[in-house]
Amino acid sequence: MPSSRLHKAIILSHIPAGRGFFRLILKAPESAAAAIPGQFVMLRVSDTMDPLLARPFGISSVPSRSTIEIVYRVVGRGTELLTGREAGHALSVLGPLGKGFPMPGKDTTPVLVGGGSGFPPLHFLAQRAGPRAHFFIGSKNKECLPPLGIIKSFRDVVSRVHIATEDGSRGARGTSTDILNAFLSKTEKKSNLVIYACGPHAMLAAVNRLAVEHSIPCYVSMEERMACGLGACMGCSIPMTAGGYRRACKEGPVFDAREIDWSERVMLAVPHKKKEMF
Ligand code: FES
Repeated sequence: MPSSRLHKAIILSHIPAGRGFFRLILKAPESAAAAIPGQFVMLRVSDTMDPLLARPFGISSVPSRSTIEIVYRVVGRGTELLTGREAGHALSVLGPLGKGFPMPGKDTTPVLVGGGSGFPPLHFLAQRAGPRAHFFIGSKNKECLPPLGIIKSFRDVVSRVHIATEDGSRGARGTSTDILNAFLSKTEKKSNLVIYACGPHAMLAAVNRLAVEHSIPCYVSMEERMACGLGACMGCSIPMTAGGYRRACKEGPVFDAREIDWSERVMLAVPHKKKEMF
């Protein structure tokens, strides 16, 4: 498929975005034309074979017909190396890859829920989902929230941004699932809601429980470590309720939350707790 082939993308802009995040704009017309929210690209962060593997990054927006935006936090050696790549350099890009979010219908109220640094795929979705959307974001404290520019850019396109921090330093005291629960409990008409979530497994499991409790469809973007990004290594396998595993890079990263086996025992048994992913 031409849109998924390995190609070179020129860095147009690469700047710190605040709170340890970086904003990378790549000239990648093929990726920009084909990308849908929830998909990702594999980026080779250096010109050498060190590190050996490319890294997966969720697409956080398509600013123009020829550019894609990646917003990432430095969480390891790969992302640390990436911060040194400056405007004018070329990066090897594979993608867009994976299955994205099903787009909400025109009468749907999309409920976007992010935790930790799991907001980039939701940012892209918010831009395409329309002004009825709500965005819920939670973190340990205000320093761990997405950069202010990103929060503003959510505010520009959704109906309301709901913020929670565990220490109460910004927004409500609690987690994103606490404020989601409060919102769902006071929303009388739930039949037009659809939840879209991205973040740590424990948060996604809690979001799924709320979705089941309130009979709301729920789609999650799974942040897994990925080696090949192409379905070949099985390193990103996710346990399914129906038995067996599915690959986040190929059949995901977006899944219907009810298809995933969220039991702690099974999730902890998956041998790839994330460090560097979206
Ligand atoms: Fe290799 Fe998914 S990363 S199969």
